[in-house]
Amino acid sequence: MYNKVEFLYLSQDDCVKAGGLDMKGALKATERSFFLHGKGDFILPPKPVIRWGGEDSEETIGRIMSMPAWLGGSAYKDELEAKIGIGPVNTSGIKFIPSKPWNPAKYNLPRANAIEIIVDPETLMPQAIMDATLVSAMRTGAASGVAAKYLAKPGAKTLTVFGSSVIGKTQLLGVANALAGIERAKVYSPNAEHVKAFVEEMKGKVDVELVAATSYEDAQRGADVICTATMAKSPYIVPEWWDEGVTHIETSFWDTPPEALKYMGKIFADDWGQVKHHGADVSWRAVRDGFIPETAICGNLGQVVTGELPGRGGSKEKIFFNPIGMGIHDLSEAFRVFESAKAQGIGRVLPLWDSYAL
Ligand SMILES: NC(=O)c1ccc[n+]([C@@H]2O[C@H](COP(=O)([O-])OP(=O)(O)OC[C@H]3O[C@@H](n4cnc5c(N)ncnc54)[C@H](O)[C@@H]3O)[C@@H](O)[C@H]2O)c1
Repeated sequence: MYNKVEFLYLSQDDCVKAGGLDMKGALKATERSFFLHGKGDFILPPKPVIRWGGEDSEETIGRIMSMPAWLGGSAYKDELEAKIGIGPVNTSGIKFIPSKPWNPAKYNLPRANAIEIIVDPETLMPQAIMDATLVSAMRTGAASGVAAKYLAKPGAKTLTVFGSSVIGKTQLLGVANALAGIERAKVYSPNAEHVKAFVEEMKGKVDVELVAATSYEDAQRGADVICTATMAKSPYIVPEWWDEGVTHIETSFWDTPPEALKYMGKIFADDWGQVKHHGADVSWRAVRDGFIPETAICGNLGQVVTGELPGRGGSKEKIFFNPIGMGIHDLSEAFRVFESAKAQGIGRVLPLWDSYAL
């Protein structure tokens, strides 16, 4: 007879109790995964995607992705603790993440939902099965925060967020928590009512002046950092409206015209191999369609975080960052929340089996 197997189940409420809304914690977990990515201490297979059309159908019909990952850290324990203030991971996980664009309007449900499984590294049995809808949103904002920390011009004061929904909120939280100098943030989406609600909800959550932009142009002019988190189906970004030294973080897919990448001083991805594999991100379409050579992609942000590659070249350089979203971020942030939950006795221990049936 085999032994019984149990795992820790964490609902989203449990994740919140365990610190899932703590952006400073999410920033540390996400900087850890960028750092270990830069060191090569990870395994990140290409994401399988179920699509019911071409790559643009993700914005209309939806998709289901699965994001397996292993993240190490033992060899860099002291460096991680000294540089970021967090320990190693040394385990694997997988995020299951469907996206259905009509969910918010039709069902009052989020566009994306996610579940993470974290395995026991010794037995590879599940040790946690948890909501990752929150984890995924927080790590996405934190990835932009880490990008801003390493790439934004010194003294950056102004942030613009496009998109006034879940990922827009975490972009604001991520960058405002990562850059102490941010004084003013603008938010814009075509739905003025949503923007108003966003400003009302978020103004007490960040220590910056938060305002609704009046147009795409108003939003882009004067911004030091721009984050896109939209379901736009055609481009609205106009680099001619930008000030010198902008850091542009393209978290969504169709916001910037691919030809605009010709005007960037430096372009980074989170994982260029994954960006190419996915085939929908603007930096890949700019290469594929001949607007820039592949050599214009300077590398992955993790290489800047470890110091292997230089980041910003000067205060006037325009920098473009294209995060495809890495499963190692989800694993790192889910592991942070899981460890905290375990330490505090949060969540429910559930049986996978009491006695094995065969
Ligand atoms: N790269 C990553 O790691 C990563 C991770 C998570 C989400 N995302 C992307 O972030 C985006 C936003 O996710 P969400 O869950 O907040 O989506 P959502 O559907 O909840 O919200 C979409 C937002 O986009 C706005 N919008 C739609 N069309 C627009 C336009 N033309 N111009 C400006 N704003 C427009 C809507 O008003 C809304 O505020 C999606 O594209 C998603 O794929 C990327």
